[in-house]
Amino acid sequence: STVTYTADDGTVTTIDGRPGDSVMETAVRNGVPGIVGECGGSLSCATCHVFVAPETRDLVGGPGDLEDEMLDGTAVDRRDESRLSCQIRLEDGCEYHITTPSEQI
Ligand code: FES
Repeated sequence: STVTYTADDGTVTTIDGRPGDSVMETAVRNGVPGIVGECGGSLSCATCHVFVAPETRDLVGGPGDLEDEMLDGTAVDRRDESRLSCQIRLEDGCEYHITTPSEQI
């Protein structure tokens, strides 16, 4: 699975991710800027906020209930296409396109 991250400044980074890893873990492990992931993926920090592209939104769906509540506390205001990237697990053979916000804290 590949994840293409577009930073707020336009920098594009494409990573070959491991199925089962989250979009947050894939970014942190590979030094991709724009995602902090302070809580390590336990859905308690909202520093892994991302905007998902339309085709990725179709693939991964919307946030769960607790994630939806956490999205109210992001550094950059949430949008319709907001997700917490620790909650998006990579599936084999899929491509993911996400944009990271200008700040996470
Ligand atoms: Fe903390 Fe996603 S890493 S909520």
